[in-house]
Amino acid sequence: MAKTDNDSMVPGDRRTAAGERRSGRGSILTFGKYEILEAVGSGGMATVYRARLSGPMGFEKPVAVKVLQDDAAEDEEIVRMFVDEARVGARLYHPNIAHVLEFGEADGRYFLAMEYVDGPSLSLVLKRRQKGRKARGLGPQATAYLAGAVLEALAYAHESPGADGQPMGVVHRDVSPQNVLLDRSGAVKLCDFGIATGTWRAGKTRIGVVKGKAGYMAPEQATGGKVDARSDLYAVGLTMVAMLTGEAPLDGKDTGEVRARAAKGFPPERLDGLPCDDAMKGVLGRALATRAGDRYASAREFLKALEAAVPDPDGAGRKALAEAITTAMERPAGRKAAAAGTAARPKDARGKAARPGRKAATVASAASGVRNLLIGAGILVLIALALALAGKGLPG
Ligand SMILES: Nc1ncnc2c1ncn2[C@@H]1O[C@H](COP(=O)(O)OP(=O)(O)O)[C@@H](O)[C@H]1O
Ligand SMILES: [Mg+2]
Repeated sequence: MAKTDNDSMVPGDRRTAAGERRSGRGSILTFGKYEILEAVGSGGMATVYRARLSGPMGFEKPVAVKVLQDDAAEDEEIVRMFVDEARVGARLYHPNIAHVLEFGEADGRYFLAMEYVDGPSLSLVLKRRQKGRKARGLGPQATAYLAGAVLEALAYAHESPGADGQPMGVVHRDVSPQNVLLDRSGAVKLCDFGIATGTWRAGKTRIGVVKGKAGYMAPEQATGGKVDARSDLYAVGLTMVAMLTGEAPLDGKDTGEVRARAAKGFPPERLDGLPCDDAMKGVLGRALATRAGDRYASAREFLKALEAAVPDPDGAGRKALAEAITTAMERPAGRKAAAAGTAARPKDARGKAARPGRKAATVASAASGVRNLLIGAGILVLIALALALAGKGLPG
């Protein structure tokens, strides 16, 4: 199933592929050794495809291939960022991070092959949970489970050493529901280290340049200040608010307004109204402190506090999330089927019922006509017989 967040993306879309070759199965679009199957997502600069790596004896491995869009590929800085994304992604090996398998070039187009996550992003799950205009959150346990997995990923990434053995100082900078991928079993994978910072980066971010999704930014990031691991923790806090409420935590009519809100910070008085207990509100209050110094010092510290506030010995959080994922993935197909059903079924029902009905009515009326004719003819014969007999008996 395609699971794009981008409404303009059509499942089965095969735009911008680098190579084309013919096989028994027809024309196949490829990037290096990867066969492109369909577009599954886009964040603006790049398109992500579901693809397949084929080998001998029917071997197949699903992969995700991320390709820079044409206009982005012409911008040197963007290309450098993309190369850096691949470099850091290939170094990060963790169950809660979508691992980068390869960085390649095909016909002058750079691409990145990744582990394929078979499921929707958190943002898509939240979108599909909306009933009309009403948002529906995911509940404190699913929220704590997902945040726990993202914090595990961040703790690992923040502490990861580079090739020289020294910490790379990775900061993701774009933790948000669009960049948290979920697979059908409820596994959580952080993706998109596209604007992450750290010492491995060839291209340095210019001071004052604001990058990331405005609605999930820490105040220091929204104002173009210095970011560090604690900025990511703030983004996890806002992602948790989005999960609990089913809504964007900092909304506005445009990016400027959202960023202005992000710069001020999440209003602490809004914590009271969140659908969770006080212990969880306490954890969120600390993660969402406006001053980085008032937040948890590390992802591990945040994780420990969260586990203490929302213990989940039975794994109810993962189960609840897996259920929400299944529902989110079934809904469009279900809706389509239902729509097809309502479009087709009454027509079929009417058609099928009408045609045999009409036939039956015709046959029935024909039968009754014949019967009436026979009765009429019988009566006439009887009258004729009676007349004949009467005639015979008449005195001559
Ligand atoms: N490894 C993957 N497996 C499956 N889908 C993915 C994968 N990586 C990204 N996607 C999909 O593509 C979308 C955009 O990918 P992302 O890396 O965030 O690109 P961008 O940098 O353009 O935001 C994601 O929100 C997700 O829907
Ligand atoms: Mg993204």
